[in-house]
Amino acid sequence: MKLNCCVFGLGYIGLPTSCILAIAGHKVIGVDINPKLIENLNNGILNISEPGLDEALKLSIARNNFIATLNPISCDVYLIAVPTPFKNSKQGVPQPNIDHVMSAANAISKVIKKNQMILIESTCPIGTTRKVAHLIKKNSGLKDNEFSIAYCPERVLPGNILYELKNNDRVVGSSSSFDSSKAKNFYLSFCNGEIFETNSETAELVKLTENSFRDVNIAFANELSIICDSLNIDVSQLINLANHHPRVNILKPGAGVGGHCIAVDPWFIISAFPEHAKLIKTGREVNNFKTDWIIKKIIKYSEELENKKGHQIKIGCMGLSFKPDVNDIRESPSLKIYNELSKIENKEVLACDPNIKNNAELKIYSIKETLEKCDLLIFLVGHSEFKKINLKNLEFLDFCNITYFLE
Ligand SMILES: NC(=O)c1ccc[n+]([C@@H]2O[C@H](COP(=O)([O-])OP(=O)(O)OC[C@H]3O[C@@H](n4cnc5c(N)ncnc54)[C@H](O)[C@@H]3O)[C@@H](O)[C@H]2O)c1
Repeated sequence: MKLNCCVFGLGYIGLPTSCILAIAGHKVIGVDINPKLIENLNNGILNISEPGLDEALKLSIARNNFIATLNPISCDVYLIAVPTPFKNSKQGVPQPNIDHVMSAANAISKVIKKNQMILIESTCPIGTTRKVAHLIKKNSGLKDNEFSIAYCPERVLPGNILYELKNNDRVVGSSSSFDSSKAKNFYLSFCNGEIFETNSETAELVKLTENSFRDVNIAFANELSIICDSLNIDVSQLINLANHHPRVNILKPGAGVGGHCIAVDPWFIISAFPEHAKLIKTGREVNNFKTDWIIKKIIKYSEELENKKGHQIKIGCMGLSFKPDVNDIRESPSLKIYNELSKIENKEVLACDPNIKNNAELKIYSIKETLEKCDLLIFLVGHSEFKKINLKNLEFLDFCNITYFLE
């Protein structure tokens, strides 16, 4: 059955989801608070880079199944994909900020009618779905059995979002008084993956668990990389050899952990269970420590190089995004490294990232310019473009195992 859907938040998750829904034949009203974004999207112009999204948006508009607007209207389905950042730290532990979710819920409560459904895809602290349900009932006067609400976390990989939106397995969680089968059937209208039903708290914790698992495991690799450095052992070779054990699968170390998800979501568990989430908290701390350790290492190495050369050197930071081959700099450890190095007096630091264009706050140099101008290259993100650089006769430090890939 083709439905009218209102998608709140037209970013990395909401926009591709809107397009997948529109291409599947649903009528999508995309709602965002950013007027410039609305104007651009209605003209088929994207503000994020994601393979296939440009064509998907144009197709959705051409089929008359997608329109972006600032104001929601009454629809069969309301899908919330707004940001859930963390806010000011309470006793050193960042706290989740669900203001955007509650604001979207408030807007929904003004237009929702009987038999309509709310799906929350934003990554949320445990209990958020119940809070949203409560607000909807309070504001709209609807009763439990007069609307549906489910928590349906998103687990897509940036760079492969359109494929994964359709093909990943999904979890659909309703609070006890609601039926999750309606949500399951909706996802089945555009997903090929398996849809698992549970309660909303379990679904909320599933999402946080997935990203905490990744964070803790990356922390293990990052800790090994620091130990290996002091032993003069190649950590990539070490991990590669250890992973030949049939039950060992160590992840890759890097400049830390960034992005809107893995660097953020573990805090949603830690802030709720400060006494018990000891390993998860340590994972966060180890990953943050890795970034600070790299900064110190670069400073020490560059000072030694300056003494050797007898003049000040220029440093090229190779990669600013939070992971390879994307332009997303949210919570990026390499951006932090670049910013911290740039603050040091008498240090000239150039930023180079082939995926980042038109960033008003950053002067980005091309690979060619950076190689020409800099005495020391710091590889922070393993972008494909960097793997083509001939490193012979270049002075560099490698924190993303770029040299290992070159062998
Ligand atoms: N990006 C990912 O790879 C990813 C993966 C899984 C889950 N998530 C989760 O999905 C959610 C959205 O993430 P994203 O990366 O798409 O964020 P984003 O920042 O790319 O986009 C969010 C959009 O929501 C808009 N917005 C904010 N408040 C709004 C409101 N009240 N009403 C309507 N629009 C509003 C913003 O203007 C922005 O355009 C987050 O909770 C995130 O943790 C993201």
